[in-house]
Amino acid sequence: MRIYLDHNATTPVRAEVVQAMTQTLTDVYGNPSSGHAEGDAARARIEAARDAVARCLGASPSWVYFTAGASEANNAVLMGLLEEGPGHLVTSNVEHPSVEEPAARLESAGMQVTRVPVDEEGLLTPEAIFAALRPDTRLVSLIWANNETGVVQPMEAIAEGLASRGVRLHVDATQALGKWPVDLSRVPADYLSCSAHKLGGPKGSGCLVARAGTPLHPLIRGGPQERRVRGGTENVAGIVGFGRACALVSEELAERMLEYARLRDRLWEGLEAKVGEVRRNGSVEHMLPNTLNVEFLGTAGEVLLQALDLEGVAVSAGAACHSGSISPSHVLSAMGLSPEQARSSLRISVGHGVDTGQIDAAVDLFGELVARIRRAGPA
Ligand SMILES: Cc1ncc(COP(=O)(O)O)c(C=O)c1O
Repeated sequence: MRIYLDHNATTPVRAEVVQAMTQTLTDVYGNPSSGHAEGDAARARIEAARDAVARCLGASPSWVYFTAGASEANNAVLMGLLEEGPGHLVTSNVEHPSVEEPAARLESAGMQVTRVPVDEEGLLTPEAIFAALRPDTRLVSLIWANNETGVVQPMEAIAEGLASRGVRLHVDATQALGKWPVDLSRVPADYLSCSAHKLGGPKGSGCLVARAGTPLHPLIRGGPQERRVRGGTENVAGIVGFGRACALVSEELAERMLEYARLRDRLWEGLEAKVGEVRRNGSVEHMLPNTLNVEFLGTAGEVLLQALDLEGVAVSAGAACHSGSISPSHVLSAMGLSPEQARSSLRISVGHGVDTGQIDAAVDLFGELVARIRRAGPA
């Protein structure tokens, strides 16, 4: 029996989502652009999903553009700046690669980029963001909740300050959605990216939200779909699955946040008691309820990860897309951890389907395996 504690990498697809997608794949095969009943049925499913996503985000349905996930949405916003000529971009030094790499590409194309540093808890301050602004700043792009540490940035204050200064804000809410209140009626961001597979939905489905009137440059040209912003026949079942996953978030968020925090805190207390010499990375006060990033002193993270995997427990060393690489996490390094501390750290993230028994079994395994690795000494 596996114990899956890597919900920030991806989540198991919820049964309700599988059911909605299966029904769509089976019965709703029309092309949403076709002018007949089959096409209309597919189009209606997409629009119902758009309403569910918008309701979950506190947005208007007309702001929602479906994409193949958050990497695409992030690229669309950042690379769109190329269409607007030279200027200045503000971001942070703890972004996901799907923001950092487009930012580096923009830099090589002549755009000036300021990467505001986080403090040792992984936090940005609104004042530091405002201080980085210049008259030619075109966009501020920031991650709301960090995928590696779970640290949640003060996005409401940042968004309000930028709105009052007339500066556009893009928020990567991929990790926040489903685990934290994401409400665009309270946070005046201009753009927001999110992804279905982080909240019990399918992979390869997500959206870009852009408020009415904010510039949007198409990433995929060649069709009328998504109001000409994203050409190509829609992934109808993927969109339906995303809509269903968002509807579940709207119903369950408060309850989920409490349950995830209960499991996560039990895990942390267990690790402190049974493993010892552990240190928590990131601001405990400003953190997603489901995430724990822990340094196991004197233990190579990759070795522990593999030992846990062999025993049936899935966790992550840094972000999933980084695993296999030996360079220490850029997020932990940005918080001032030494390469050795960063390499001794693991991300453990709980979610739907995890229960108390699994947490207790995982704690016992951590205890045994860390002790064994520490006894064996440095590799
Ligand atoms: C913060 C963040 N942004 C963007 C992405 C990319 O999302 P997707 O897998 O939908 O492309 C991820 C996924 O790991 C993420 O955690």
